[in-house]
Amino acid sequence: MDHENINFHTRKWVRPEDLNANGTLFGGSLLRWIDEEATIYAILQMGNGRVVTKFMSEINFVSSAQQGDMIEMGLRATKFGRTSLTMRAEVRNMITRRSILTIDRIVFVSLDEHGHPVPHGFTEITYDRDRLPDHHIPPVMLDA
Ligand SMILES: CC(C)(COP(=O)(O)OP(=O)(O)OC[C@H]1O[C@@H](n2cnc3c(N)ncnc32)[C@H](O)[C@@H]1OP(=O)(O)O)[C@@H](O)C(=O)NCCC(=O)NCCS
Repeated sequence: MDHENINFHTRKWVRPEDLNANGTLFGGSLLRWIDEEATIYAILQMGNGRVVTKFMSEINFVSSAQQGDMIEMGLRATKFGRTSLTMRAEVRNMITRRSILTIDRIVFVSLDEHGHPVPHGFTEITYDRDRLPDHHIPPVMLDA
C-alpha cells in the first residue's frame, strides 16, 4: 500500500482489554476503532453528520500487536460517489513499524433524516474542517 497517500490520524495504545486469548491484539477491537475512525472521516469528507458503513472489502490481517504497543490508523478517500464515499484503510504498528492490516475499500453512505441515501455533492478530498457539521444530528427517523 502506498503510505504517502494515506493520512494517519488516531493513535491507540494497546491495553489488556484489547487482547484476545492468545495475548495479542483482538481483531474485534481493531475493527471497532477503524469503523469509528472511518465514520469521522466520512462525516468530515461528506459534510453530513448522518452516515453509515455500507460495505467493507476483505480485511487482510498482516501482523499483530501486543500489549503496550502503539498503533496508528490511516485512511484515504479513493472515490467520491453520488451518495457514497469509498476509502482505503491501513493500520500500522508504531513499535514494529509493520502493517497490521489493510482494507482496500470501506464504503460509507450519506443519509437524510429518514435514513435514505442523500447526495453529498463533493468530488474531492478536503484536508480542512470546512465541511464539519455545525449542529447536533438527531437520530434517523425510520419510515413506519
Ligand atoms: C445504507 C443504505 C441506506 C443504502 O441503501 P441502498 O438501498 O443500498 O441505497 P442505494 O442503492 O441508493 O445505494 C447508495 C449508495 O451506496 C452504494 N452501495 C450500495 N450497495 C453497495 C455495496 N454492496 N458496495 C458498495 N457500495 C454500495 C451505491 O453505489 C450508492 O452509492 P452512490 O450514490 O455514490 O453511487 C442501506 O443499505 C442501509 O441502511 N444499510 C444499513 C447500514 C448500517 O446500518 N450500517 C451500520 C452497520 S450495522
